[in-house]
Amino acid sequence: MTTTDTPPRREVTAGRLLKTAARHSYDPDVDIDWDAPLAGDRYFHPPHRSSLYGTQLWERMSEAQRIELTKHETASIACMGIWFETILMQMLIRHAYDTDPATAHTRFTYTEIAEECRHSKMFARMVEKFGCPGYGTGPVVHHLGRAFKALSNGTLTFSATMYVEEILDALQREMMADETIEPIPREVSRVHVIEEARHIHFARDELLRQWPKLGRGQRAVSRLVLGVVVYLATTRLIDPKVYANAGLDVDEAVRTATANPHWRESKRFAARKITTFLGEQGLIKGPGRIFWRRAGLVD
Ligand SMILES: [Fe+2]
Ligand SMILES: [Fe+2]
Repeated sequence: MTTTDTPPRREVTAGRLLKTAARHSYDPDVDIDWDAPLAGDRYFHPPHRSSLYGTQLWERMSEAQRIELTKHETASIACMGIWFETILMQMLIRHAYDTDPATAHTRFTYTEIAEECRHSKMFARMVEKFGCPGYGTGPVVHHLGRAFKALSNGTLTFSATMYVEEILDALQREMMADETIEPIPREVSRVHVIEEARHIHFARDELLRQWPKLGRGQRAVSRLVLGVVVYLATTRLIDPKVYANAGLDVDEAVRTATANPHWRESKRFAARKITTFLGEQGLIKGPGRIFWRRAGLVD
């Protein structure tokens, strides 16, 4: 680890983040115009980020069907966000249970829990607004998540959190800048990007404090479990039911998306920053790296 990776003391980080939270926070229930009608002829995320973009199947689809697909894909990714934020809220509650209540660090932990709670409500409201069903990760991953949120150590809590927050951040930064897409997913992305910047900062500093304290065995286990979490979070971004709801043959669409080099590149794009950071810290090594490779994120 280089000296530039030495984080400030916990109270210094938390004090700064509490100040920005006081200045830049949103209440999505009132700050987003949920009553505005959907435009109807706009994409819900940039089309080049669709899992089928650039394939022969995409070429066969009508414009309306492509738009419909991006609607369900955006809803699916939002539901994955809710799934992980719910896991994160529990992990942060466990974190606060063990820290001194009379500190800025604990106060920021509770602040972040409150923000994640508002985000999950915001994502849920967006999915409802789209008229989409709730998507999910499937029963096996759902139960694995149950074990993870109950048992993760500090390193796993903050490295997995950074992974999910960074991939959403990369995709949502593009969405908030794209004036051609539907306004509601743009607004939702903007609120999320602004508030997540401090969560990523908090997780990064905490990870840099906790990771060096682990012994060899704990490091090996953490790398392996992180690899599994990354693999599952990345490969479950799009619930296969999305394709059925966009009027496509599910088997053909899943096969096409899995083999689609554009989609693989989109996932790499989303994960690039965090893959570089975690790789530099030595968290992508050993058997855990196999899962990163299987997710298509490293060679
Ligand atoms: Fe969030
Ligand atoms: Fe967050």
